[in-house]
Amino acid sequence: MTRALINRRLSVAPMMGCTDRHARYFLRLCSRHALLYTEMVPAQAVWHGRSERLLAYSSEESPVAIQFGGSDPVQLAYCARMAEVYGYDEINLNVGCPSERVQAGRFGACLMAEPGLVAELITAIRQSSALPVTVKTRIGIDQQDDYAALAEFVECVANAGCGTFIVHARKAWLKGLSPKENRTRPPLRYDRVQRLKRDFPELEIVLNGGLRTLEQAEEQLAAVDGVMLGREAYQNPYLLAMVDAQLFDDPRPVPTRHGLVQAYLPYIECQLAAGVRLSRMTRHLLGLYQGMPGARAWRSHLSARGARSGAGVEVIEQALRLVSREVESAAVFG
Ligand SMILES: Cc1cc2nc3c(=O)[nH]c(=O)nc-3n(C[C@H](O)[C@H](O)[C@H](O)COP(=O)(O)O)c2cc1C
Repeated sequence: MTRALINRRLSVAPMMGCTDRHARYFLRLCSRHALLYTEMVPAQAVWHGRSERLLAYSSEESPVAIQFGGSDPVQLAYCARMAEVYGYDEINLNVGCPSERVQAGRFGACLMAEPGLVAELITAIRQSSALPVTVKTRIGIDQQDDYAALAEFVECVANAGCGTFIVHARKAWLKGLSPKENRTRPPLRYDRVQRLKRDFPELEIVLNGGLRTLEQAEEQLAAVDGVMLGREAYQNPYLLAMVDAQLFDDPRPVPTRHGLVQAYLPYIECQLAAGVRLSRMTRHLLGLYQGMPGARAWRSHLSARGARSGAGVEVIEQALRLVSREVESAAVFG
């Protein structure tokens, strides 16, 4: 199989409950170039044989990086082999999630305190798969929050063969803050991530956290190799439609919102035929018309009608009539 060339200039973050395969299919329609990440997949669940449900996706979503959460080298080695079988383009290890459940499994952000173990995990993954391996981490945890500790962590893990670090530019408090609070309360320190790039120029450093606009993304791209957008890309997916032209120099016309929905409909029909409920797909469209006249009607129609049993694509067609059609010079997509 020929794999897509990975360009991490702009990626969409792994987000549990958000970046499932249906969301990724839609986000791929928005941008041909952005690298998409799966939700975190617990290594243990794959190990226990739930691969098909956890790993299946459509080839149209590529390039897609799969994120695993785990701390057992044997399990992660198995996951790495499965990731290759399923055709993913990158394997990412979660060293940033502060949730209590994840800590109880001794993975996620608490692994920042164990760089030697993370290096061992990277080695195990690399020995079982030829895919690029990356780590998504924070700038620190708890009291271990100075730059020296971050640099030591990165150096140790890089020595095991990880060439790319995606750094959420906030520390995480492992006790006392919920995962949600850990995404807003600790201050953003972009300077730390930029310094990593200066100190480790041979590594690929991707900055994540708090980016809301492509102008902010471009500003960071002057100092780091890539940016990763999480909440803004999901809540306002039309932002991604601008990415190809603005960040990847793709001269093709920017798709319109209506064009994107129309392009998503055949996929939705296939999924409905396979027994997937409409709301599993429409929930990823709620923010599409953000800031446009009719956005609220769009959202409430999709939420209320999309959830009814037996709901089909007519719900989306009705919702489209509630939003003003954009003035579009070239409503071309595809
Ligand atoms: C609902 C939600 C779920 C998330 N799930 C994951 C996850 O599975 N793995 C992970 O590494 N980060 C996860 N994150 C963190 C994001 O990947 C990202 O690091 C964080 O939201 C900061 O980026 P942003 O400010 O652009 O949203 C999640 C964030 C949100 C909002």
